Amino acid sequence: MTQPKRYTVTAALPYTNGPVHIGHLAGVYIPADIYVRYLRAKGKDVIYICGSDEHGVPITLRAKKEGVTPQQIVDKYHEIIKRSFAEFGISFDNYSRTSAKIHHETASTFFKKMYDDGKFIEETSMQLYDEEAHQFLADRFVTGTCPKCGNENSYGDQCEQCGTSHNATDLINPKSAITGNTPALKETKHWYLPLNQYQDWIKEWIVEGHKDDWKPNVLGQVKSWLDDGLKPRAVTRDLDWGIPVPVKGAEGKVLYVWFDAPIGYISSTKEWATREGKDWEPYWKDQDTKLIHFIGKDNIVFHCIIFPAMLKAEGSFIVPENVPANEFLNLENEKISTSKNWAVWLHEYLIDFPDKQDTLRYVLTANAPESKDNDFTWKDFQARNNNELVAILGNFINRVMVLTHKYYEGVVPKATKDFSALDKIASYRDSIEKSIENFKFREGLQELMNLARFGNGFLQEHEPWKKIKESPEEVKNIMFVALQISAALAYLVEPFLPFTAIKMKKLFNLSDIAWNEIKSSIDQPLIKEGQAIEKPELLFEKIEDEEIQIQLNKLAASKLDNTPQIPPQGGAKGGVFPLRGDLGGVEVDPQKAEITFDDFTRMDIRIGTILQAEKMPKADKLLQLKVDVGIDQRTIISGIAQYFKPEEIIGKQVCVLVNLAPRKLRGVESKGMILMAENSDGKLVFVSPETMVDNGVKIS
Ligand code: MF3
Ligand code: ZN
Repeated sequence: MTQPKRYTVTAALPYTNGPVHIGHLAGVYIPADIYVRYLRAKGKDVIYICGSDEHGVPITLRAKKEGVTPQQIVDKYHEIIKRSFAEFGISFDNYSRTSAKIHHETASTFFKKMYDDGKFIEETSMQLYDEEAHQFLADRFVTGTCPKCGNENSYGDQCEQCGTSHNATDLINPKSAITGNTPALKETKHWYLPLNQYQDWIKEWIVEGHKDDWKPNVLGQVKSWLDDGLKPRAVTRDLDWGIPVPVKGAEGKVLYVWFDAPIGYISSTKEWATREGKDWEPYWKDQDTKLIHFIGKDNIVFHCIIFPAMLKAEGSFIVPENVPANEFLNLENEKISTSKNWAVWLHEYLIDFPDKQDTLRYVLTANAPESKDNDFTWKDFQARNNNELVAILGNFINRVMVLTHKYYEGVVPKATKDFSALDKIASYRDSIEKSIENFKFREGLQELMNLARFGNGFLQEHEPWKKIKESPEEVKNIMFVALQISAALAYLVEPFLPFTAIKMKKLFNLSDIAWNEIKSSIDQPLIKEGQAIEKPELLFEKIEDEEIQIQLNKLAASKLDNTPQIPPQGGAKGGVFPLRGDLGGVEVDPQKAEITFDDFTRMDIRIGTILQAEKMPKADKLLQLKVDVGIDQRTIISGIAQYFKPEEIIGKQVCVLVNLAPRKLRGVESKGMILMAENSDGKLVFVSPETMVDNGVKIS
């Protein structure tokens, strides 16, 4: 495709069974964000589409584990995930969710059309069944040995070790994930997508048609799938969480999550179009549209084979132009794992580094797992911040600003002579552009830093500080060039480090321009003679060893504890996160009268987890909570309704005085008290264990 009219860029819909971590950002959301920010700067018609993937077994399992409903789980994580993305500047045009009405309708209609056109095979067969849980076992409800690679912990639908996707009945030694029982077989009817009928078409479209422009890791997986021979895949399930199968005789069945989720891209586009007063269809149906799916490598089969087969079968849609899948990011040499809490959670990162979103964006891009799995280490994070962002980019900008103030009171001087150095700006822009167009974001970032290196080298070579006395005219020319490079950096940095771009544009008082305008000559400079710049301000701060040690200690602690802590509120600096070291200057109450040790031990304080929370009718201060305190699950009424929304505190661990005499509040008995601290501004915070602790553990 030479000149597409518009771009539809999608990023994999994250499962709402937990918060998002650095692996998500590095693999999918940052690369896609760089790509769309660049396209927008080019003036292209582009939409960046995402949303929460709210069906599927992991969510049901998480709900079971936390003792709440699947809806409560998705409501909680949808908000947390959405906020994390916003805080890191991931600039979606729309972030929807698959529990939305528009999605249920869109997915149902899609299925119905395929059904009416005879695109499915209907088949009754024996499937794995848990007789104790009274449930069919598909996907993640069952584990067993992978028939292909022998991994003993393969899921029913996919083996995470070798990437193979299979049917649950293919597993050797299957076990129910609900009860641990060996499943029985029971007859059930399902609808299958006969992928074998699409084998030749996929081969021609991808293996032959895209052999030069798709990434080798993606082509490799597709070929291996085709070599194994595509087989029919069931697209319905016997579950009660999901989108009901919209045909007669399918009562109690829902669409397979991997059938409905990618249609979520389409429903999210519809939601965007309705809001913006646009037509969604060209973005999905016009041959001039370039559809790009950003995903992680475990999603390749779904985006290169199953979803395209669905789009083709439905008949009215385009198929992707590229699927630039990334490999995985490891953390300190180990696989990132939500269930093992081996991750750097985005909402937690922001508590410790409240205004360093761009540092993380930088490190994750510089170290992105583009062609092989890569490792994130805190030492590397520190080194890249200190030796690259601070020492190269930050240093150059600071030198230019300081010298401009020193020599010219902060006003851009008049240049009289052209420097060939100015031509470098457009050539760096072009090479960054080429890298981004080819999905080589690491390389693009490298080129950007090379321009900053070039700037530092230019100053070093011309040494304005040695010439200011004897050759003031020459220094004007030198500083003029240095200022042009600074302005170019402010623009070119935007796709990669959007927060830094805003700061830089403010410092140099630059207005927005299109990507192609990022070039400079003596007659048409990026920043003009006579233009005032602001006082110098550091773009990046050094990160100290102690800060890194805190992170390493935290990881060491999560070896013992395995559930991420969800803060009741979240947000970047200026937002709602509580900031470290921000608690000084409070007037404190005097100490109370002395008590004996015995007095203390009479109080039975335990760790508990809030399982449910709801507003008490006609009481605007009270929340009615169900708390698991280990001994039992009890009702506690707490006067915190003005500070917390019920859904924010579900899952939170708290300290509970359990042997306080029960008392009735509005006719409901409250058994115990949750310990809270009140801040000087009247805000309440929970007193919570630093890491996850078993319910019922005593505080002593
Ligand atoms: N939720 C899936 C995952 O996290 C990705 C779904 S992508 C979509 O692996 F295409 F189905 F939306
Ligand atoms: Zn396997």
